[in-house]
Amino acid sequence: MPIPKAELHLHIEGTLEPELAFALARRNGIDLPFADAEALRAAYAFADLQSFLDLYYELMAVLRAEQDFTDLAEAYLRRARADGVRHAEIFFDPQAHTVRGVPFETVVAGLSAALTDSRERYGISTGLILCFLRDQSADSAMETLDAAEDHLDKLIGVGLDSAEVGHPPAKFAQVFRRAAELGLHRVAHAGEEGPPAYVREALDVLGAERIDHGIRSMEDSELVARLRTERIPLTVCPFSNVRLRAVDHLGMHPLRRMLEAGLVATVNSDDPAYFGGYVQENLEATAAALALTDDQISTLARNSFEASFLDEATKSAYLAELDAYLAVP
Ligand code: HPA
Ligand code: ZN
Repeated sequence: MPIPKAELHLHIEGTLEPELAFALARRNGIDLPFADAEALRAAYAFADLQSFLDLYYELMAVLRAEQDFTDLAEAYLRRARADGVRHAEIFFDPQAHTVRGVPFETVVAGLSAALTDSRERYGISTGLILCFLRDQSADSAMETLDAAEDHLDKLIGVGLDSAEVGHPPAKFAQVFRRAAELGLHRVAHAGEEGPPAYVREALDVLGAERIDHGIRSMEDSELVARLRTERIPLTVCPFSNVRLRAVDHLGMHPLRRMLEAGLVATVNSDDPAYFGGYVQENLEATAAALALTDDQISTLARNSFEASFLDEATKSAYLAELDAYLAVP
């Protein structure tokens, strides 16, 4: 049985497996420019973040109806439970859908249908985080937040994703301020391809409570000291970093150094359908490549619950379950 854990960096659109993409394409009468699921999978060779994003947004064409979003999220929940995931804070990219004429309400209703009562139905508690696309305008982000105001009961926070370099966090200062006023948590992708300065800006200007990726923070010792002192969690995604060539190979991944520096790092799958594995595979392969100790693996699992936006009582219950799991020889 895999170690109990929370997954905090997971784009629901990035869980679209080729087989489901073809099934939805058929259902919606959409032609995909690939012969079959195998041919599609063969296209998953990426040079960088942008080359992935191009395919990621293209394939979203198959997501049109509420039921499509429900099917997508239910497939993830089933898979995640088998990986020992007890709690998932799930990203979605509404602008990637509204731009194609799929209403915000359709996306949120479809995802919520899967996530409501997920703990009873799938054994996983869930929260939904609305991500703004940083390569779109601040006005577009604000319009998206406006649309979200009628659905605040279904959201736990906002995030920032898509093409990082050239789109520093400060562009979204106003929209993140508004999100905070609405009582939403704030996270941001930073230091994936972008420099450590973007991580600082996400903390100082956006009030980010967690940093997604954040691996390039390791280039800046003052920033590392700050992340350690302030216990800012970093949601690290090893397979993603290798597939998008931010890191040459798993054996070169900075995760072990991050743990040794006392950072609150967690392991996550990012876009598992595209990057070769779900969260448990990320954890196992990275632990093997970096020779992580049992203590470091336990710390990663503990960090995942501590870094979550769960209330303290629920966090304690999950941590107790983790301790019980670790106590069995
Ligand atoms: N980085 C930025 N944007 C994204 C990612 C990522 O890893 N995955 C999906 N959108
Ligand atoms: Zn991501």
